Amino acid sequence: MKIAVIGTGYVGLVSAACFAGWGHEVVGADKDARKIAALRRGELPIYEPGLDRLVDEAVAQKRLSFTTDLSIAVAGADIVLLAVGTPPRLRDGEADLAFVYAAAREVAGLIDRFTVVVTKSTVPVGTGDEIERLMTRARPDASFAVASNPEFLREGSAIGDFQRPDRVVIGANDSRARELLQALYAPLREQNVPILATDRRTAELIKYASNAFLAVKISYINEMADLCESVGADVREVALGMGLDHRIGAGFLNAGPGYGGSCFPKDTLALLRTSQDHAVPMRIVQESLAVNDARKRRMALKVIDALDGRAEGASVAILGLTFKPETDDMREAPSIPLIEALQRAGARIRAHDPEGIENARAVLDDVEFFDDPYECAAGADAAVLITDWKSLKALDLGRLGHGMRRRVLVDFRHAFDPAEAERHGFALTAIGRPS
Ligand code: UGA
Repeated sequence: MKIAVIGTGYVGLVSAACFAGWGHEVVGADKDARKIAALRRGELPIYEPGLDRLVDEAVAQKRLSFTTDLSIAVAGADIVLLAVGTPPRLRDGEADLAFVYAAAREVAGLIDRFTVVVTKSTVPVGTGDEIERLMTRARPDASFAVASNPEFLREGSAIGDFQRPDRVVIGANDSRARELLQALYAPLREQNVPILATDRRTAELIKYASNAFLAVKISYINEMADLCESVGADVREVALGMGLDHRIGAGFLNAGPGYGGSCFPKDTLALLRTSQDHAVPMRIVQESLAVNDARKRRMALKVIDALDGRAEGASVAILGLTFKPETDDMREAPSIPLIEALQRAGARIRAHDPEGIENARAVLDDVEFFDDPYECAAGADAAVLITDWKSLKALDLGRLGHGMRRRVLVDFRHAFDPAEAERHGFALTAIGRPS
């Protein structure tokens, strides 16, 4: 098939590379000329394990190309995937669909055969209906169908998630569109991946329902972690004991400093707005958002407590800045409010991250950055692990502690073995267990 992917952000680029890897002819289009120029030089705008190799291979085999010219991408396309950004609107937090609608209007003017226009971006329920309306108005004679095919990949493991998903959801009200998308995902059906075909609105909602549920799960275990600290229990074992019940499942029960990233905070807010627009309260989602916001703001207190309440003038080494490992993404990262609160309390911040320093510079002021974690901790009064990169979990605590002024360690991700930390003379504070 010939596929046009509009938007070469996370979802667009990964989808484009993976579909090309399955043998389709894919053109990735983006309005950002600098991004396209970089992609043509073989430089990726994001860090994602394995993506560079996949893109290089597909480009070399002439199955993947990039353009700023939408007409080149859309000409002869069987499928147009809309994967443009849907950032939260400042005024009300709702997903901003301006880019999606603008792209859809433009695509309407360019299609030259029956084309299935598919939303891959996370879009509120009813967006497909609006796209259909806009496109029909822009081009009454065009032959097209609008479908929803939400993407469930995670940053950091995007390629594996795309190639071996738990499920694929195809939301189409038109049988030709449904059949074309089923054919697109035939390689996954052969691997026994469930392909769920629904109507368009249902597919749109499945994406939000899934993300919000996972966010609720995290907030739930985070509150349980607080209770564990007070009653003298260990949240990791509570999570293990819960997760062995297959009805609950073990995933997403890792207590931490609160969820971040470009999806959970934005999507829970957008779902909440949708529920309010329809006068259907979703109190559980609302509370989980509030719990997460409060948690991210409160985490600095743990560090200040570990410093015996004296943050003023203290030097704090932050290990890991991105919202999770294996990504350079700083969006909504728990490290940001934590660092800002420590700075307000008078601490000086030194920070290390394996991939995120460049993006962190853009969002953090007055922070000294280090490429080496040991140099970062040198002379510090406390080391704080926020993101559990493999390289940070494997740190030599003896070496880390050797250079520090005080051996205070705050571990927000259960990255370190408490016995090992104690052996090296650290006073360890961890989430969800009595210290
Ligand atoms: C999330 C979903 O997991 C994907 O299925 C979805 O496709 C994606 O959003 C999206 O909508 O595009 P992502 O934001 O990349 O993926 O990252 P996650 O691995 O889900 O982590 C999100 C946040 O939750 C991170 O800050 C992470 O540290 C936190 N988290 C996750 C926990 O605190 N505990 C856990 O047990 C799991």
